[in-house]
Amino acid sequence: MPEGIAFGGDYNPEQWPLEVQEEDVRLMRQAGVNLVSLGIFAWVLMEPAEGVYEFGWLDTIIDRLHSADISVNLGTPTTVPPAWFSRKYPDASPMTREGVRVGAGARETACSSHPAFRAASARLAERLVARYGEHPAVVMWHVHNEYGAPLGECYCESSVAAWRDWLRHRYESLDALNTSWGTAFWGQHYGEWDEIDAPRWSHTVVNPAQRLDYARFANEEHLSHYRLQRDILRQSGKPVTTNFAGTVNCKSMDLWRWAPELDVIANDHYLNGEQPDNHIQLAMSADLSRSLAGGGPWLLMEHSTSAISWQPRGIAKRPGEMRRNSLAHVARGSDSVLFFQWRASRYGAEKWHSAMIPHAGTDSQIWRDVVSLGADVGRLAPVKDGRVTSEVAMVWDWESYWALELEWRPSGDLRFRERVDAFYEALWREHVTVDFVHPSADISGYRLVVVPSSYLLAESSAKNLQRYVESGGHLLVSYFSGIVDENDTVHAGAYPGALREVLGLSVEEFHPLRELETVTLTGGATGRIWSERVRLERAVAMRHFTDGPDTGHPALTANAFGGGTASYLAAALGGDDLRALLGEVLDRAGVSRPRDLPDTLELVRRGACAFLINHGDAPVTVTGLTGTDLLTGAPFTGEVPAGGVAVVNEAS
Ligand code: GAL
Repeated sequence: MPEGIAFGGDYNPEQWPLEVQEEDVRLMRQAGVNLVSLGIFAWVLMEPAEGVYEFGWLDTIIDRLHSADISVNLGTPTTVPPAWFSRKYPDASPMTREGVRVGAGARETACSSHPAFRAASARLAERLVARYGEHPAVVMWHVHNEYGAPLGECYCESSVAAWRDWLRHRYESLDALNTSWGTAFWGQHYGEWDEIDAPRWSHTVVNPAQRLDYARFANEEHLSHYRLQRDILRQSGKPVTTNFAGTVNCKSMDLWRWAPELDVIANDHYLNGEQPDNHIQLAMSADLSRSLAGGGPWLLMEHSTSAISWQPRGIAKRPGEMRRNSLAHVARGSDSVLFFQWRASRYGAEKWHSAMIPHAGTDSQIWRDVVSLGADVGRLAPVKDGRVTSEVAMVWDWESYWALELEWRPSGDLRFRERVDAFYEALWREHVTVDFVHPSADISGYRLVVVPSSYLLAESSAKNLQRYVESGGHLLVSYFSGIVDENDTVHAGAYPGALREVLGLSVEEFHPLRELETVTLTGGATGRIWSERVRLERAVAMRHFTDGPDTGHPALTANAFGGGTASYLAAALGGDDLRALLGEVLDRAGVSRPRDLPDTLELVRRGACAFLINHGDAPVTVTGLTGTDLLTGAPFTGEVPAGGVAVVNEAS
């Protein structure tokens, strides 16, 4: 791996004539590029006809990069099978839930379960490792591209065959399957394994437990396609990764199951150009990536210099935004600043996507900013490998995410991300860095654990949360958590079955609100989406509903349990209301945080360095922080200019 923080991005030289490729290397050096990802979409160039391999072109490019001291993250190109493959194996093209065969000419056009696709993938990996495994420029492997995006689940014949095997293995008996899926409802009992189909589109709701299992199965199929290649590539002794699309575009992969299978976690992040304060979502994506990396460093594999072509409007980044974005990822644990892509394509689907070299060439603001960012990144070597620690964790469980967003929930407004985003934003504005955790993880080290609408909660995970509180932890649970088990079956008794004991309450009935309806809490906070009838058992009420269907009943409660406290929020608060209430919970849990900074200043500590990122329009003065600003090389003056960044090495 490059020394220091890696800088560069996806490089697709196959789109350019030789003179441009030669210029590329010169410009990469000028910008301080030290790592590029190659080959991701180049299957047909590597294997122009079945079993005919051509790597001469790739040898030339890798050698050219090597002679310029630029390292290579070499991709396996399985995201886009060649036209010959699609013609020879038409049944390897994925099928959507609606039964539509995915067309060629795009990408992600092969099914991860298809035997011919698997065999071809393995052969490619073998060729690549044999040819480049010992090449000094190739420092790591990049398998496929963003598994599960855009198509997480495939409904083709190969998938259905693999699904039946997966079910046999999971349940062993049809009795167990029938019980878990609740097939007594709507007369869906299965008497033979081969009667079971994929939960394809139907004109009304399909069995939710079957859907949930299919989501698990689809995740495992992609994962096993990854593993197949990884195990071959690992023969080189070099690290293997694949790029996640963690919080953007892709909810179909359960990344807790993927993370242990990667040698280094890599994530792509694209800002939602339309969203105000989208740097908060960026921070969340980075915190999630770090959490998947077990708190250690990870790689930002892709982000954009400016406009993104697949959003409704290609909103350009404002002055300084690319720099703030890039450094915010590093602040939260990334050991790289990598982009999609090096040079803006002149043709093809992504020609309106920004790049490190725009269509305008090097006489452009983007290029000047890239060069200057490369210099900044070069100064951040002392940050590398530094760890970020957090006192607060938030539960993030993909299975619960999938389950909550199936059809026919008590309210169509219930969204996993809606609650996660609301809590995360409140914590971000409080300058609290967050780790994300699976509900079964070891959470004993945190002062506070937030559980935002974790609808599906296995009994064992609920017990884990309960033990945490018992031994002194603080838990904050939001409504509609702990409602069903892993089969989407309601936990027995009053809601929330899995958490009643630790919360010291039960919920008799849900009262979802109409679209624009709101409810008010004592103290004035306003809730949307949700109201419910809480019955106190041992918990005490801290706020009540003052209007709406549950007027006079508890809206916020606290329960002393063992050595800790479990709080429960029965309303969907947001913005300043949520922040104020969360502030009380943070105080009770003893979570330390700066009190005198504007909420536009991002403050994150990584190793010995404090990153100060000013997203506001006015300069901010920070007191009590001394050391060298790595970006200027001079002592930190205490001032962070509007839109500016300081990285203060407090050990200096
Ligand atoms: C990513 C993808 C890249 C490129 C990029 C554009 O999701 O991995 O190949 O398409 O989006 O934003």
